[in-house]
Amino acid sequence: MEKFLIQGGQRLQGQVSISGAKNAVLALAPSTLLAPGVHRLYNVPRLSDVHTMVELLEALGCSCEFRGTELVLDTSGLRLVRAPREIVGRMRASFYVLGPLLARYGYAEVPLPGGCALGPRPIDLHLYGLRRLGATIEMHNDYVRAQAERLRGTTITLPFPSVGATGNLLMAAALAEGETLLYNAAAEPEIVQLGEYLCQMGASIEGLGTSTLHIYGTNQLNPSSIEVIPDRIEAATFSIAAAATQGEVTLTHTRPNHLHAVLTRLTEVGCQVTATDSTITVRMNTLPEPSELSTAPYPGFPTDVQAQWTAFMLRAPGVSRITDTIYPNRFKHIAELQRLGAQIKLVQNTAIVRGGHPLVGTTVVSSDLRASAALIIAGIIASGQTEILEIHHIDRGYEAIEQKLQRLGAVIERVPVGD
Ligand code: EPU
Repeated sequence: MEKFLIQGGQRLQGQVSISGAKNAVLALAPSTLLAPGVHRLYNVPRLSDVHTMVELLEALGCSCEFRGTELVLDTSGLRLVRAPREIVGRMRASFYVLGPLLARYGYAEVPLPGGCALGPRPIDLHLYGLRRLGATIEMHNDYVRAQAERLRGTTITLPFPSVGATGNLLMAAALAEGETLLYNAAAEPEIVQLGEYLCQMGASIEGLGTSTLHIYGTNQLNPSSIEVIPDRIEAATFSIAAAATQGEVTLTHTRPNHLHAVLTRLTEVGCQVTATDSTITVRMNTLPEPSELSTAPYPGFPTDVQAQWTAFMLRAPGVSRITDTIYPNRFKHIAELQRLGAQIKLVQNTAIVRGGHPLVGTTVVSSDLRASAALIIAGIIASGQTEILEIHHIDRGYEAIEQKLQRLGAVIERVPVGD
């Protein structure tokens, strides 16, 4: 058990290299089940969620090996189409194995992933789409049992552009017989990359990055390799941390075009943002203006940046309103920010922030990944020492975050609990 100790009040300055995208790896790795053989993923971050996905694939019979930032996956020895409950219970993205297992082997059993700190997270849209593709789905002991001798292409309209459902259906439809039209699909860059990888494996997909996907099913896919895109949420987190400390930070190995909504908001509140194809420099000389925003599916403002933005707005004199339309209960960070002296009121799914009041360091507890990132930002702008407990949440999605922050001048250390 470890915790972070932060001495607040530092201005972040310098360069930080952005790692590969967690949520891209969590979709790409299960897609390798569609094509038995050796796949290579490059630029893979060392994160506990990635390790959980590797553990799941190994439990199914795949062999996985890290070589630096390369992940080599050999999916030729698959021997099980039932995902262990213990692993799926740890990480919702495990549900991504359902589509490819079903499409490739005609049968799969995956337990319900259950709710999480973000609130209830159903999988009805995944199951709706798979049924439309011809699967028979039954529930047994909280396990989803899906069966189909061969999936058949069809038209599917998602009521909401779910990232996970789009990913599962893309993978399933790639090996289905005939064409699938998927309306109201997610357009997140991680889904685009999944679609690109499926195409590299031999699938044919039109419309990636738009809300309508046209998937031409094929009989067989072949192993391939791909470089994982940079993590846009990590990039957004460092940009906001830089701005919150009135610092100046250059992010390298990033894709500014994936961050349009966040960079636009930063500019609107007074931040100077300059970008090249692969770098972003964020410079802030003043306090931010207050802001009003709502999260939305891509290309809207990401829910995965809502908590960090809320922490940032504590610096803005005046009232800010931040609404989460994707996860109306994703506000566990608020009670912890209040312990640091934040003036925030939650009204339904809107955080009303009265910014401009000083924060004072104390002990806070992480509840989930992005809430942890918000607490780190708050700890850096608070005076005195902030102790953050339960930091295993942050290790799920940020690679060596304290080392990256230390290089930017933050005073943060990871110490065993009890010290
Ligand atoms: N939803 C349903 N039914 C479904 C699927 C989703 O009602 O069958 C609802 C969810 O309950 C939620 C909304 O739709 O209210 C969005 O869910 P979505 O399926 O789009 O999210 P996800 O695939 O479960 C991914 C990311 C999340 C990110 C969301 C939204 C991965 C592995 N996870 O989750 O990332 O918040 O999209 O952008 O890609 C994170 O990285 O911190 C994280 C939570």
